[in-house]
Amino acid sequence: MKPRRVFARLLLSYLAITLVVLAAVSLIFVRLMHRYFFNVEGVHLTMRSERIAALVEEHLYRGDLQELSTLVETLAFSNDIYLWVTDKEGKVLEFAGSNPERLGLRVEQHEIEHVLAGNVITKQITGPGYNSLFHMAPLYVPGYEPQENWDSWEAGGAGGDPSQVIGTLAISSPLGSVTGIMGVVTRLGMMAALGGLFLAVGIGYTLSRKIASPLEEMSAVAMELSRGNYNVRVNHRSDDEVGRLAETLNFAIDKVSGAMREQQQTLKLQRELISDISHEFRAPLTTLQGFLELMLRGKIPEAERERYLEMMHRDTVYLGGLVRDLIDLENLEMRRETLERRPADGEELLAACLENLQLKGVEKGVKLELQVEEKLPLLMVDERRFYQVMINLVENALRFSPRGGTIRVRAHPGEGGVFFYVSDEGPGIPKEEQPFIWNRFYKVDKARSRQETGCGLGLAIVRRIVELHGGWITVESEPGCGTTFTFWLPAAPEQ
Ligand SMILES: Nc1ncnc2c1ncn2[C@@H]1O[C@H](COP(=O)(O)OP(=O)(O)O)[C@@H](O)[C@H]1O
Ligand SMILES: [Mg+2]
Repeated sequence: MKPRRVFARLLLSYLAITLVVLAAVSLIFVRLMHRYFFNVEGVHLTMRSERIAALVEEHLYRGDLQELSTLVETLAFSNDIYLWVTDKEGKVLEFAGSNPERLGLRVEQHEIEHVLAGNVITKQITGPGYNSLFHMAPLYVPGYEPQENWDSWEAGGAGGDPSQVIGTLAISSPLGSVTGIMGVVTRLGMMAALGGLFLAVGIGYTLSRKIASPLEEMSAVAMELSRGNYNVRVNHRSDDEVGRLAETLNFAIDKVSGAMREQQQTLKLQRELISDISHEFRAPLTTLQGFLELMLRGKIPEAERERYLEMMHRDTVYLGGLVRDLIDLENLEMRRETLERRPADGEELLAACLENLQLKGVEKGVKLELQVEEKLPLLMVDERRFYQVMINLVENALRFSPRGGTIRVRAHPGEGGVFFYVSDEGPGIPKEEQPFIWNRFYKVDKARSRQETGCGLGLAIVRRIVELHGGWITVESEPGCGTTFTFWLPAAPEQ
């Protein structure tokens, strides 16, 4: 759909309606004016005719034709009209006035007979170069008064008594002034109509714009949407149906674009994850493959074989751990694995953990200290997961502890739960790295060999487990002064 169409259609409709109404009103107006003026003029002429008839009747009745002739001529010239007098046989006795052709005056025999029968004729005579009003009435015996009937001048019947008729009087007067007035009225009417038309165009244009512009805007927005651009919104605001439509459209765009953004974000994360995983797998697989090829080609001396096999074994163990941790983290994040939470005593849990880790500490020449200050409240934990957290934190601490160092594991109640601390005397973690250690595959020292570090999933798993228990975990570290991981778990609700 072309966006301009609605506007054009609206404007055209407005104009069409305006034109039709204007034309109808003008036509009726001009017609009415016309009728009004001819009514007025007709009445004037009738009155004049009656005044003249009163003067003429006297002379005609007395047969004083000389006097009649003088009178008729005087009246005709002084009034600028044309006069015509017949006797009661219809014979023309007198006619006077200037230029009868200008008036287009012609009297038919049947008209004379009609008037002699006591009727009145009034008509407009128009033709090329002339436009006049014609009135013909009977002349009566002086003193006789026919019934007056102003309304009937158009109908042509005065209803006089034919036996009293002694002749007829025809009078014709040019309609110059009336025609002039009609011209002025018509011009005025046309000017008003023209003004009205301009006004209508102006108002029609504004109204059409007002209705069409939000529709045009929405259509443009829809077009953008179809091109995949979701950063468009409809700006039109109004509390009518169009405004409501605009709001709904914006709402829908928000929803769809939100969903799209989320989807794109998920896709991006998935791609990143796959790339990270491939990256983690590549190095150990490459060394494994290299060593195996060397062995197959007999390039490794018998004496070295043991050492190579050990390295290969470590790589497979690393890969196994990587796969296990990945699956574990994925399950935790998708909440596919539910926690088996049971009430447990924090101190007992810690003691059990450290017992297992003590051996590793001895191996590395690191002392492990457990310190529980107060009686701890019962916790609602998944024991296996709790061990996982402690093993991860203590193994990290062991890895970074210098020989002869101490790892302190501390716990005390607080804030409706238990605070746990794992501190070491290792090199610490630089401030700017601290926010990232929780990310998967993040390792501060990338140069460390696989044998020395894990795959960078440990802390991500730890944090997830603590959060699933409704707790939180933070790290505090000064480079050179060791590292302390602190986590808090809520106490079991009291029964
Ligand atoms: N106690 C610690 N002292 C110093 N750095 C640590 C400590 N614990 C963790 N880190 C740093 O955080 C990184 C992420 O730890 P983690 O997620 O457990 O991965 P991984 O142990 O597999 O390397 C480690 O690689 C290490 O750089
Ligand atoms: Mg670790």
